[in-house]
Amino acid sequence: MISAPTSQHKPGTPAGTASVSHEGKTVELPVLKGSVGPHVIDIRKLYAETDTFTYDPGFTSTASCESSITFIDGDKGVLLYRGYPIEQLAEHGDFLETCYLLLYGDLPTAQQMKEFDRAITYHTMVHEQINYFFRGFRRDAHPMAVMVGVVGALSAFYHDSTDIDDPHQRMVASYRMVAKMPTIAAMAHKYSIGQPFVYPRNDLGYAENFLRMCFAVPAEEYKASPTLARALDRIFILHADHEQNASTSTVRLAGSSGANPFACIAAGIACLWGPAHGGANEAALQMLQEIGDVKRIPEYIALAKDKNDPLRLMGFGHRIYKNYDPRAKVMQKTCHEVLDELGLKNDPLLAVAMELERIALNDDYFVEKKLYPNIDFYSGITLKAMGFPTAMFTALFALARTVGWIAQWTEMIEDPAQKIGRPRQLYTGHPRRDYVPLQKR
Ligand code: CMC
Repeated sequence: MISAPTSQHKPGTPAGTASVSHEGKTVELPVLKGSVGPHVIDIRKLYAETDTFTYDPGFTSTASCESSITFIDGDKGVLLYRGYPIEQLAEHGDFLETCYLLLYGDLPTAQQMKEFDRAITYHTMVHEQINYFFRGFRRDAHPMAVMVGVVGALSAFYHDSTDIDDPHQRMVASYRMVAKMPTIAAMAHKYSIGQPFVYPRNDLGYAENFLRMCFAVPAEEYKASPTLARALDRIFILHADHEQNASTSTVRLAGSSGANPFACIAAGIACLWGPAHGGANEAALQMLQEIGDVKRIPEYIALAKDKNDPLRLMGFGHRIYKNYDPRAKVMQKTCHEVLDELGLKNDPLLAVAMELERIALNDDYFVEKKLYPNIDFYSGITLKAMGFPTAMFTALFALARTVGWIAQWTEMIEDPAQKIGRPRQLYTGHPRRDYVPLQKR
């Protein structure tokens, strides 16, 4: 039973109680109120007072931390970074400004922006030895495998920014990761296609610089299209943070032991790689290519609905959004802008995507289960049109999400309530039994 908090209660403070009864014993648990969104029942004393744990595989009902960075209302399709709606940031802001917002909590003044921009720009080069580190990888390695390795290896290069108890070193580590991630992702791409690495340039913006590092060759001049640079910048904004998703929770969990910050981000990259998380944009594009023609859509819809078939419509559904993913709306618009710019308005994949979306949104199965297109549905087509190979899609996601991971990691380190993460379990294995020697088994 929960007694509801009132609006006078300060966010994050006890504002009511919930009672839990077990084996004749009743305990009163505090209910905490957030600034917006659902209240949480504070169960920290549950085990001590009732000798029971809660059971929540996939953490669908568990708040693992207090955070003031990102808010999602999945039922209404709302996403806020530090209170600002994602649509407004994508329309009027830019990625570096969004990074500042996520890291510092407020939009920067013009002077703060200038200083931040300069600090990031002057950290974009990587230690020259990292070039040689790359050569240890096979050329056909997946860029995410390379990213996990190289970003983890940063911990072996930047010893002056790994003391997590020193706020200055934490800040330098943050700048280094935001700045170097595009350089590393571009190097992973160049390495896989056997072209020379392209060094960053300080006179270019973040997305423009990344496009150049990916697509320039020494044999000719390269000038990124401003429309494509703006579209990519917007894609980075859309992916910058998403509260306590699997990779962010991984970064927090890894960091909760006091681990090296670069190694924590590498752990986040590893988690993001999975097809149910960041790998879905690659999987969504592959699915659209496999469908190939609008005539085959009904066949795929039928398979996606068939309980006995493992096929899922990639780019559809979300653990949190039970409404249209607000990022997907911006992504759809960006997709059209990019295809228009590149003269690909009649791209057959776009035709398949739009028809698939139309059919699925009107199909009872998808309507009842509240399965809407997510951000990955249109991002694959957009990135492919820009010239990125599918294997690079998740690497771009990792690049953009790095700032969110760092903001969340910093918030955790600075939180006085922070403890090493240590979930419990419902044990269903053997009770105690005695060892039997090999000859007697
Ligand atoms: N196609 C067909 N059926 C689906 C789909 C789909 N894409 N997604 C969920 N369902 C069904 C699922 O079979 C289940 O049916 P039932 O209740 O009859 O067993 C029901 O909908 C609920 O699914 P769930 O897997 O229990 O839901 P979840 O919240 O655990 O999963 C998800 C969310 C994103 C893993 C899932 O929707 C999915 O696998 N989608 C495809 C992959 C994808 O696009 N992932 C990108 C997520 S957005 C990027 C990010 O933020 O990382």
